[in-house]
Amino acid sequence: MKRQAWGTRLGIIMAVAGSAIGLGNFLRFPVQAASNGGGAFMIPYFISLFLLGIPLMWVEWTLGRYGGGFEHGTAPGIFHTMWQKNRFIKYFGVIGIFGPLVIFIYYTYIESWTLAYSFFALSGRYAGATTQLSMQSFLKGFQGLEHNQYFSNLTPAYIFFIITFLANITVIYYGIKGGIEKLCKVAMPLLFVFGIIIMIRVLALGTPDPTRPTWSLINGLGFLWNPNFSALKSGRVWLAAAGQIFFTLSVGIGVILTYASYLSKGDDVVLSGLSAVSMNEFAEVIIGGSIVIPAAFVFFGPVDIGVIAKSGAFNLGFVTMPLIFEKIIFGAFFGCIWFLLLFLAGITSSVSLAQPAVAFLEDEFNITRAKAVSIFGIATFILCQPAIFLLGKGVVNELDFWGGTFCLVLFATVEIILFAWIFGTEKAWEEIHRGADMSVPKIYKFIIKYVTPLFLLFVLGFWLYQDGMPVILMKNVSASDKPFVFATRLFLTIIFIVLAIMVKIAWRRKRKEVGP
Ligand code: PFF
Repeated sequence: MKRQAWGTRLGIIMAVAGSAIGLGNFLRFPVQAASNGGGAFMIPYFISLFLLGIPLMWVEWTLGRYGGGFEHGTAPGIFHTMWQKNRFIKYFGVIGIFGPLVIFIYYTYIESWTLAYSFFALSGRYAGATTQLSMQSFLKGFQGLEHNQYFSNLTPAYIFFIITFLANITVIYYGIKGGIEKLCKVAMPLLFVFGIIIMIRVLALGTPDPTRPTWSLINGLGFLWNPNFSALKSGRVWLAAAGQIFFTLSVGIGVILTYASYLSKGDDVVLSGLSAVSMNEFAEVIIGGSIVIPAAFVFFGPVDIGVIAKSGAFNLGFVTMPLIFEKIIFGAFFGCIWFLLLFLAGITSSVSLAQPAVAFLEDEFNITRAKAVSIFGIATFILCQPAIFLLGKGVVNELDFWGGTFCLVLFATVEIILFAWIFGTEKAWEEIHRGADMSVPKIYKFIIKYVTPLFLLFVLGFWLYQDGMPVILMKNVSASDKPFVFATRLFLTIIFIVLAIMVKIAWRRKRKEVGP
């Protein structure tokens, strides 16, 4: 069976940028920055970008293209090709399917809220809620965490989830060129248009209430960007910055590997990878940094903003922002495009999370795309249910921690060591530059070999030392959530084992086909 391929170079850049630019850029980033030193956060953030993010982006594009040449689009096959003597390395590669799958399970559900809220904004569904408290009950009612005057059951949320889920499955069904590339080529420009419109609207807020001159846009920007350098002494701030870089760039998890596996041998990876990173950083730092926090500051003032910023990304996106749109003229319109922006950001990321599992089935079991997508659709539909029905029990946090944080760092560490040390720097350097439109600065040879792996080992070691035991022993989980968190871990372990067994079966079969 012939493997799929991208249609154009712009197509894959848009697709990788689409994967990178997601809910993380507009909700997670501003909250992380505001609660980890403000402007000072940008120092570890940019250091992590140059020492972790950009090198890993190049490594994943290169390894993906290399693996694609051997008809492998996911980490088990790619790692095995790189280190054929090692029988176990392919099982490490399982993380590159498992991680995206775990993120997909909860990410798609959150994405469906953004679609629902864009309808609510237009139809005036949340217009009755005018305080933080009432808007919070609106959200809780919608999520099924409370039965109240806004929602008596989970049906609306479930309907939007099914629509979002089917939209994702349809895009993947149409494939790399006919589905993902087409979607991203339309969604990304639209996303930038929406983002810039909202950004300009926020930047034009000025001081809407003359009786409160300090509640101004300038002070709002200051709240986010004025540096608090003492934050740099905290290890937590550095971890948060490194974590944000991974999450926002979608690196260290296997997704970019799969996308790049559909390139041809002579396609450039250096400039293309860098272009996708630049688009992501523009969307994150410039657009993402100019919307939620400054707007919340202007309308809620310097005292409440501290509480709001600490209340988390969901609260800002789904509670504070709708309240703000109620206060501005044409708020229904701005509210609608804000949530559509989030939806486009979300769907272009979630399809990238689905593709590794689908590619694994196609490449390693030689089944058709239609069959692979059906298996994926049925399995993930079932796996999504705990995230929907047990949202309030700590299940989503647990999935996010293992899938969206821990696996990222672990996988990235294995991947970079394999690339620089097993594959070897000289060969790696040659592979990166095959067909390249620009050369990578020489210093990166040193960075990829020593700095990135050491930085990663340090981050991993520091985490294990500081937080490892309390997390493993569920020290910060409330007694009532413990059984659910424990069950989630069991559920994740089972998924991992099933994937590892599938790798074993696929390899055994191939050996039989090739003969002894
Ligand atoms: N980069 C996405 C965001 O910023 O929301 C999230 C994400 C997508 C993480 C794909 C990891 C991934 F593989």
